[in-house]
Amino acid sequence: MSFASSRLALVKPSASTWVSQAAKEAKAQGEDVIDLGLGEPDFDTPDHIKDAAHQAALRGETKYPPSNGTPEMRQAVLDKLKRENNLDYALDEVIVSNGATQVLFNTLMATLEPGDEVLLSTPYFRRYKDIVLRLGGVPVPLQCTAGAGFRLKPDQLSKAITPKTRWLLLNQPSNPSGAVYSDAEIASLGAMLADHERVLVLSDEIYEQILFDRRISHSFAALCPHLKDRTLTVKGVSEANAMAGWRIGYGVGAKAFIAAMIKVQSQIKSGACSIAQAAALNGSQNGVPRFRAAFERLRNLVVARVADIPGLTLDPTGGAFYGLIGCDALIDSPSPDGTPLSSDADVTAYLLKAAGVAAVPGSTLDLPHFFRISTAMPEEGLNKALDGIAKAVADLKGLSP
Ligand SMILES: Cc1ncc(COP(=O)(O)O)c(C=O)c1O
Repeated sequence: MSFASSRLALVKPSASTWVSQAAKEAKAQGEDVIDLGLGEPDFDTPDHIKDAAHQAALRGETKYPPSNGTPEMRQAVLDKLKRENNLDYALDEVIVSNGATQVLFNTLMATLEPGDEVLLSTPYFRRYKDIVLRLGGVPVPLQCTAGAGFRLKPDQLSKAITPKTRWLLLNQPSNPSGAVYSDAEIASLGAMLADHERVLVLSDEIYEQILFDRRISHSFAALCPHLKDRTLTVKGVSEANAMAGWRIGYGVGAKAFIAAMIKVQSQIKSGACSIAQAAALNGSQNGVPRFRAAFERLRNLVVARVADIPGLTLDPTGGAFYGLIGCDALIDSPSPDGTPLSSDADVTAYLLKAAGVAAVPGSTLDLPHFFRISTAMPEEGLNKALDGIAKAVADLKGLSP
């Protein structure tokens, strides 16, 4: 007997979840598996953040927190936005949630009508599509190619807008492509939306501090002030502060937006954990430059190693900690046991079997003939995984030169 509602039937487990599940099963059977499927910093949360949590517990900050976040945490968010993002908001224009994931859910739950279209530039963070489907919305993928740096162009955006379009979901630096837009590119996307008053913009800036090659990226709402009231900005501490397990993210936008999101959040969660909020607000940025530099070194390592593997391609990413590896040349190659690899899912299944490396098939992110790896892991493990991938690819027969 199934207990799942028909709404749930629309949603499949996220690709990185089932890849990690497959990796766990292989490990349980005694196989040596390196999981490059799940994107999570390998670093430990800095000690001063842990201390702040401890102190908050000792002070007795253990009661129900306000649904929208503690005033101290919301003020810390406002100060951060002013200082780093040139954005001015008020206390009732912020919501602190259980990770950026919950901000995404709250936003769409609060605003999406069944049948509303949500524009997603490909490849995208898989959870976007799942949430939209779960809420009865219609995900509309806009194909962004490797040649275009996986960045959405204004004319593509313009062609995709219909009377049903409700949201544009933008994410930069992008998971999974690492794409980063120039300020001018963002401004021209914003200009395109000026007259489409029904269209809202969700700017997911969770990786804003993980930028490479001295790049600087500005918030969408700061670059497109004419859209500030229609923009919901999402940020958090999971990635750059190595706090994924503390589950703190936040959203900022117009008061009416946030009020609707608070209604959703208060029913589902009451509020984000009081102690985690105290930790996050005290989480000064001490660790960020160190983590950022480490991610850039890992990005360089992966790009250099993949360049030496005939049959695979990887363009240097601008930020975040993923690599989107092109495997077009492997498709249709027979694996050593004779079975042809007919899709990127076959390629990842082969890599798991032959190299003990778990990766996410690109087709689950609307990008066939690619697979995604996370580079957020110790150098030694990454090198070992790439050794395995190189050998497995070299073992394929009939690989086109
Ligand atoms: C693009 C993007 N947005 C949001 C999230 C969710 O972040 P959190 O851990 O704060 O829920 C992630 C996490 O991987 C992500 O990659």
